[in-house]
Amino acid sequence: AEARPPAGLATPDAVFGEGRRNSQGFDLSDEATLSRIEAARGVEVPDAVPLTVSPPSGQRVPVRNPATAEIVAHVTEADAETVARAMDDARNWDAPAAERAAVLRRAADLYEAHFGVIFATLAREGGKTLPDCVGELREAVDFLRYYAAEGDGATGKPRGLIAAISPWNFPLAIFTGQIAAALMAGNAVLAKPAEQTPLIAAIAVRLLHEAGVPAAALQLLPGQGGTVGAALTTDARIKGVVFTGSTETAQTIARAMAEHMAPGTPLIAETGGLNAMIVDSTALPEQAVRDIMASSFRSAGQRCSALRCLYVQEDIAPHLIAMIKGAMDELRVGDPWQLSTDVGPVIDAEAQQGIDTYLETKANHILHRVWAPKQGHFVPPVLLRVDGIDDLEREVFGPVLHVATFRAGELNRVIDNINARGFGLTFGLHTRIDSRVQEVTDAIHAGNIYVNRNQIGAVVGSQPFGGEGLSGTGPKAGGPLYLPRFFAPEPVSAGE
Ligand code: NAD
Ligand code: ALA
Repeated sequence: AEARPPAGLATPDAVFGEGRRNSQGFDLSDEATLSRIEAARGVEVPDAVPLTVSPPSGQRVPVRNPATAEIVAHVTEADAETVARAMDDARNWDAPAAERAAVLRRAADLYEAHFGVIFATLAREGGKTLPDCVGELREAVDFLRYYAAEGDGATGKPRGLIAAISPWNFPLAIFTGQIAAALMAGNAVLAKPAEQTPLIAAIAVRLLHEAGVPAAALQLLPGQGGTVGAALTTDARIKGVVFTGSTETAQTIARAMAEHMAPGTPLIAETGGLNAMIVDSTALPEQAVRDIMASSFRSAGQRCSALRCLYVQEDIAPHLIAMIKGAMDELRVGDPWQLSTDVGPVIDAEAQQGIDTYLETKANHILHRVWAPKQGHFVPPVLLRVDGIDDLEREVFGPVLHVATFRAGELNRVIDNINARGFGLTFGLHTRIDSRVQEVTDAIHAGNIYVNRNQIGAVVGSQPFGGEGLSGTGPKAGGPLYLPRFFAPEPVSAGE
């Protein structure tokens, strides 16, 4: 049926304008800020439980620090009855849009005020370095304020009950972004965080409730993907699913929804990528190397946006690869809470073993590998030689960079090969030829294209983030088209 955009939303100009500013974050070069952060080092991280209207039940299991294997706190994982009761209890948030926006803004302020326990939890539960903690909190706060700014004059109707299923790698930012948009449209939300990161999700939901989100409009269901996630994606009462995670899980969810839900129930899926960067021989080597290092190894390579396959033009390749090896030798891998640490642990033993096994199969292709601690789930940053992106069997979600070379005249073949893999999340280009920028960015299939900079860290409101093909359904998060998807479609009446 014909549908028009929900009424009353602010225009992109208004959302980007004077009325809304992105969070200032924390200046890690300021000593006073650093001592405020240091005071949070030992704070107690609270246990997570299902935050539901009816009393929950489920099994209590420990959540471990990936850097040390120490128990950070415990989570009670929701069982099937808890999920069923949460669905019965869920109610749309029927306050006026302006009130919902005010509550989300208050939640953003509360997030910033509670930075200490948030940083401690992101570092101890998720292995996040301090710069990543700062970036993650900023992004979460920006999502809250962005959707509030866009939606506070909205008059559209909610869709109903929304399942929000999120990954561990942005356990606060993506978790919050999904929920903020669904709530801003007045929906009821059942939020399922990743198994690995329930503690930060519980802190976020407690703050959202404290800010004024009704308990029946936002319930937290920590638990396993195969139980809680599957229950949320096979029930006809769910009127929309917002998911971020692997392409395989998105495909499983799409099949389950097709079988169990009304046709047309929206699935917003943001998934993985095989992200490439092309560096031609006109690029500035120092700048390219700085951006390659950030794109590949920041967050231990555990970003969907991370650079996986670097293409370097043959005539500068020996020089550039030598510079990359030198820069890798400067990386410090270790305790995420040390300000000097560049690369923290990967998320858990399974991730570590998966990457280690992959590297064993590629042992003959390793060009460089740096030191990492033996205790804890650390993976040393690695540079691997490949002939091209076709050699990458899958998205290796860690600090592993593949490098290939290309000759002058082969650029179109390289672009065709990248596009042929069917993903389309991020892409980077380093060149000083203006016409090449146009030519390559027109030809490449990717949601977020970055020229002469790194390819991670999209900024809410300025760089809406999301991919195409196997990398996601759109609409892009942190952009003007995301919030409208959470409203019920408004039919266009005859004669309009
Ligand atoms: P994952 O797919 O394993 O898990 C994501 C979520 O899905 C978790 O909450 C999990 O419990 C749940 N889940 C698992 N099986 C399910 C099922 N059968 N039904 C319903 N839910 C289920 O992904 P992950 O390992 O947590 O995250 C890493 C992946 O996420 C990478 O592929 C990465 O590229 C991708 N990612 C994409 C974006 C993006 O914006 N495009 C952002 C971050 C991460
Ligand atoms: N939005 C995150 C980034 O751009 C995934 O790195």
